[in-house]
Amino acid sequence: MKLYITETIRDKDNLVLIGTTETDFFTFLNSKSERDFVRNRIENEKNITVINQAGRTIFILVLKEEKDHYFQILEEARKAAFTLYSNLKEFDIEKLIIKNAGVSSGQVLAFAEGLSLSNYKFLKYFTKKEEKTYTVKELGIVSDDITSTDIDKLNALIYGVCFSRNLVNEPLSYLNAEMLSEEVTKAGLETGFSVEVFNKKKIESLRMGGLLAVNKGSIDPPTFTILEWKPEKSVNEKPYVLVGKGVVYDTGGLSLKPTHDSMDYMKCDMGGAAAVAGAFSAISKSQLPVWIIGLIPATDNRPDGNAYVPGDVVEMYDGTTVEVLNTDAEGRMILADALSYAKQYDPELVIDLATLTGAAHAAIGKYGIVGMGNVSKELMETLKTSGENTYERVAEFPFWDEFADMLKSDIADLKNIGGKVGGAITAGKFLEKFTDYPYIHLDIAGPAYNKTEDNYRGKGGSGVGVRLLFDFFYQLTR
Ligand code: BES
Ligand code: ZN
Ligand code: ZN
Repeated sequence: MKLYITETIRDKDNLVLIGTTETDFFTFLNSKSERDFVRNRIENEKNITVINQAGRTIFILVLKEEKDHYFQILEEARKAAFTLYSNLKEFDIEKLIIKNAGVSSGQVLAFAEGLSLSNYKFLKYFTKKEEKTYTVKELGIVSDDITSTDIDKLNALIYGVCFSRNLVNEPLSYLNAEMLSEEVTKAGLETGFSVEVFNKKKIESLRMGGLLAVNKGSIDPPTFTILEWKPEKSVNEKPYVLVGKGVVYDTGGLSLKPTHDSMDYMKCDMGGAAAVAGAFSAISKSQLPVWIIGLIPATDNRPDGNAYVPGDVVEMYDGTTVEVLNTDAEGRMILADALSYAKQYDPELVIDLATLTGAAHAAIGKYGIVGMGNVSKELMETLKTSGENTYERVAEFPFWDEFADMLKSDIADLKNIGGKVGGAITAGKFLEKFTDYPYIHLDIAGPAYNKTEDNYRGKGGSGVGVRLLFDFFYQLTR
């Protein structure tokens, strides 16, 4: 979809007028009956009204005023765009102008964001695409205080989210670890960040034992991908490192998952990697002045004659020994190696994103990200604020050391599962053992993949994490 700013509205342009209950929408209406109709709808608290004029359709959208929480107002605008999207589809409208008729520029941008994300489709595998291809092709914005910089930023962000969704929606039959690295490499070439891919031989020479153990049951080699965006001017002296779980498919390994409803969607287990790659695309495309490094360990997790087994002891990249008691707790095995690898950068902060635990999903479902960490209160608040701005909310869990005690093994330094309680936290505590820098862990197991359509977040891969990270780094550069 082409998104642009414009000043002119032509007679035949389909319009969305966005205002509040205070707005006088009448300048665009032709007759008394249209005006009465609109007045009546607004009085009855209907927030969308459709007027069909000869040759054009006008949609009147009434949003709440800004006195409520700002983030809720933005989310309302995104959701209104999704609701309106079905109207647009009904009238087969491909070109549309949005006119700000009395709301904030933030609301107009949020509306455009919601519409762009509602417009996303993953059609690659349909043989008859044309039957499914209704999309809005052009969206012009008329609003005094929106600049071309705002639009470029939004375009970059939408690109990143859609790229991330595409990666998650790709099945293993296409996207194995090597293809994931290849797709990230292509995105780097397109948007400007640099990419280096370690192959199996290199991973073996580095002795990344966690990644290699999970990969033992696979017929495809693992990869370890390093992304870097280092603009000439950056606000930080030490890099921020983003780590993404790249399990391209999780069968559970020998601790096999039951098929129904638990293995079916496990192509989404590289959602963390997709969030990192999507955020890099958006950040480099919009030239944010922040130095970031991304690390993506990738493999599938399968049972096989040579697969790692419960009871195995694995020597990790940093030398720590881990007793594997459940091969389905594979995410932490590959992430641990990446987190130890990150130490060499002397990072300002490391954030990992991972579809890590069913426990995080059970705790808050698709409604938010389970977050925890050992950073300053202030930094955690910055991230949470970004969570609210983007509605990719972060629910902070306690990061208490008692949960680390549950990881003691009888025969090795650690075991890879905890006790009966706090599964999301023990996973985070396991990862923390491999860090020596300020660290935030984000478990996106709940919101990464929507089995049924979830508003503008769509069906299938949601791209969660991209908008959160983008907003977070944008805040840091201001
Ligand atoms: N990939 C799963 C977690 C997951 C669950 C992601 C639901 C998305 C939706 C992860 O590798 C896993 O299987 N975790 C286990 C850990 C357990 C064995 C300690 C879990 O949560 O059951
Ligand atoms: Zn698993
Ligand atoms: Zn997994």
